[in-house]
Amino acid sequence: MLLVLGRWVSHAFIPRVSTCFPALLPRTILRNFNKIKFIVHIHSAVSVNAVSPNRATMPERRPFVRLPTDVFPVNYGLCLKPDLIDFTFEGKLEAAVEVTQPTNQIVMNCADIDIITASFVPEGGEGEEVNATGFNYQNEDEKVTLSFPSTLQKGSAILKIDFVGELNDKMKGFYRSKYASPSGEVRYAAVTQFEATDARRAFPCWDEPAIKATFDITLIVPKERVALSNMNVIDRKPYPEDAGLVEVKFATTPIMSTYLVAFVIGEYDFVEGQSSDGVLVRVYTPLGKAEQGKFALEVAIKTLPFYKDYFNVPYPLPKIDLIAIADFAAGAMENWGLVTYRETALLIDPKNSCSSSRQWVALVVGHELAHQWFGNLVTMEWWTHLWLNEGFASWIEYLCVDHCFPEYDIWTQFVSADYTRALELDALDNSHPIEVNVGHPSEVDEIFDAISYSKGASVIRMLHDYIGDQDFRKGMNAYLLKFQHKNASTEDLWDCLGQASGKPIAEVMSSWTQQMGFPIIVVDQEQQGDDRIIKLSQKKFCASGPHTAEECPSWMVPVSICTSDDPSHACHKVLLDGTDATITLNNVRPDQWVKINPGTVGFYRLQYSTSMLESLLPGVRDLSLPPVDRLGLQNDLFSLSRAGMISTVDVLRLMEAFINEPNYTVWSDLSCNLGVLSSLLSNTDFHEEIQEFIRDLFTPVGLSLGWDSKPGEGHLEALLRGLVLGKLGKAGHKATLEEARLRFKEHVEGRQVLSADLRSPVYLTVLKHGDSATLDTMLKLHKQADMQEEKNRIERVLGAISAPDLIQKVLIFALSDDVRPQDTVSVIGGVAEGSKQGRKAAWKFVKDNWEELHNRYQGGFLISRLIKLSVDGFANEKMAAEVKSFFESHQAPAAERTVQQCCENILLNAAWLKRDTDDIHQYLLQRKGPPTV
Ligand code: BES
Ligand code: ZN
Repeated sequence: MLLVLGRWVSHAFIPRVSTCFPALLPRTILRNFNKIKFIVHIHSAVSVNAVSPNRATMPERRPFVRLPTDVFPVNYGLCLKPDLIDFTFEGKLEAAVEVTQPTNQIVMNCADIDIITASFVPEGGEGEEVNATGFNYQNEDEKVTLSFPSTLQKGSAILKIDFVGELNDKMKGFYRSKYASPSGEVRYAAVTQFEATDARRAFPCWDEPAIKATFDITLIVPKERVALSNMNVIDRKPYPEDAGLVEVKFATTPIMSTYLVAFVIGEYDFVEGQSSDGVLVRVYTPLGKAEQGKFALEVAIKTLPFYKDYFNVPYPLPKIDLIAIADFAAGAMENWGLVTYRETALLIDPKNSCSSSRQWVALVVGHELAHQWFGNLVTMEWWTHLWLNEGFASWIEYLCVDHCFPEYDIWTQFVSADYTRALELDALDNSHPIEVNVGHPSEVDEIFDAISYSKGASVIRMLHDYIGDQDFRKGMNAYLLKFQHKNASTEDLWDCLGQASGKPIAEVMSSWTQQMGFPIIVVDQEQQGDDRIIKLSQKKFCASGPHTAEECPSWMVPVSICTSDDPSHACHKVLLDGTDATITLNNVRPDQWVKINPGTVGFYRLQYSTSMLESLLPGVRDLSLPPVDRLGLQNDLFSLSRAGMISTVDVLRLMEAFINEPNYTVWSDLSCNLGVLSSLLSNTDFHEEIQEFIRDLFTPVGLSLGWDSKPGEGHLEALLRGLVLGKLGKAGHKATLEEARLRFKEHVEGRQVLSADLRSPVYLTVLKHGDSATLDTMLKLHKQADMQEEKNRIERVLGAISAPDLIQKVLIFALSDDVRPQDTVSVIGGVAEGSKQGRKAAWKFVKDNWEELHNRYQGGFLISRLIKLSVDGFANEKMAAEVKSFFESHQAPAAERTVQQCCENILLNAAWLKRDTDDIHQYLLQRKGPPTV
């Protein structure tokens, strides 16, 4: 599985490579289910902190000061002339500025740019143009100080700067992106990626989100090229000095932050349409692929009016372009009016795209379009409030997809993709609060993680549930209107939502955003006549076991409760604002079960008493518990077992109760956890036994799904089939492997092309059990593939190959020109995830090629992803020490916290393995014994 921007990309982003499995007899599974007894161990966990070399230390802070406010911009007149042959650009800035304090210097952001001349012209012709006499670059701080020979007086003025820069190949600032023309010729586009702090690499500017100004952009480009920017074109004329060039002028933007400015110069086709609220929408695709833009266009056209209605604020620009960029570090970027995407996050081919790609495109379009309001119109005051942008967009993208594609059952998928991932990361001692003080750019890069995205989205979902949709919308509308074209902080949003709902929002929410972690709620019950007495108590949940320190933080937790009479609706809601609470539920019969957190909305784990848990388990088997609650229960117990609070054997028994499970997302989450366990047990000599367990668990569902889709089947069946066949194939299920080989052969020979949804599971299966010929065939398919989606699909499974020399070949391929720079990370990650040998080889490869990799990503967020994918799966103390020591001598400032989290995870794995190996082994052996009557 891959991590993109802090979100585990499974079903979504990078369509998940299904894990999955083979076959055991249903009878065996049911037999074991009957024996489930959950023994809840309190305080039995090994304390990882005791052996951990890292405590909850915050990475060291680098010195940082924000820009002075004595001179600020009002309007940027910016003209850029990129050279797509020499990879340089010339720029001319004429910024209208206000001087608020007399000064003889101007401090701006500037990085990797050479200033040729700078001058200052006071407005109104009273003063003479003054040339700057010195440009003092503070490279570490990414700033330049322009010095003037005389004092610049208070008032309006124009600051003129001529400069030159490089169209770099680092996917940040103003950079070049390589693509092939339809005839296969190598060409380059010039594109931008400014968030968080890279506008300063394209032009000298006040590169802070709160320093908003308007922009008048002009691009001088080859006349046959498409030139795009945030606004519509208002003028296009020949460039007097060169007949091959044109000068393209764009309309003035609204007042906006620098990180949202964008321009693209390249060759593209497009499809266009208009939304019902009159916005012109275009989706730009590579040449000859306009058809592949249709799906995103439909989504965008439905989404714009949806948000207009939800926020009750119209989209403020006349147009919006969505464009696919070949070399692109993030998944997508919400530049105002010109949203940039990786090709795989925008393009859908009706025949060759799989269901998870469609879903991913819909989510990403929904996410970036939400930012047009939430982020672009109202912007966070400082990066400390980045989570507001990203957490909110990561929540509302699901609301939008649920509106456009109700058949995706996307909210259940939220719980598996975002909610559980956030809980997992936030249980670490090395997590961080949602709101975190950041200064230096490397600290800003570091917080584009699962805490900002997934925990942010999860606490907003909890808040939305606590407030109710109507008041939530009222508050959102008030917030957007009050702060439009301005900046806001987390507290500003709480104030608006508090006023709209009359509830203590700031008080409740600050407990979630200002302290890291979350609670585990311990639950017990007692029957008193017709009443059920429920006792709740909270303490901090730690991945290493119960919190033992004297000072235990607590949260204001909206808790809801349901009973078996109506499992999907809360019969009682309470705000747990202290450590304990006792609740009386009237008229609950002794035979009814009681469940906390229906819908799995509250951001906490649950630890039920043995009797309560046992009463819930039949609801898993007979499906009377709703899918999202089955998923949540399994996920809580899995996490409790990793923390040593229950035995892993209890979880294996619970998993067997899912034998009749029909729901894709429930399977997907379970499969993911089994994958974690399987990876842990690859460090033992009974790895094969867990494969057998996997095969047994997944066989019945595999058999009922079959290989071919049935008439009338929908999106979720397609996802489930891919997941299950992949899991079975990977675990070596014979029949699955044989069928996969057969179908692969037919596919390669062109007799019967594999349907897009079957490709990942088939590729994975044949590679996992394949030889060098299989790898060669796969690499050939990769070369021939025209769609980036297909290339990525192959890249992500190559690491499944087992032979050490072939693993090496895959790693070398990862750094070759055949793999786009942003995708190298997933190839190496796939190797680390593929097998125990792969894990070792991938880590060695990262160490051996550290300089090149670090240089390739310039310490950006992709390096954190790479580190996490490469080392998180280790499970012994020696490796934790090795990783720690490697990064002591090989600095990666934006990945410091990731390194600490990885070391913590390795130690947790080691403790888990030590604690439960024998019991798991015993269990796996005995479950194969003759059935007990
Ligand atoms: N604002 C981000 C893009 C970004 C990410 C810029 C990291 C700088 C650093 C954008 O809105 C975003 O979140 N993109 C996601 C996709 C989204 C659907 C989760 C991404 O790039 O993965
Ligand atoms: Zn975003």
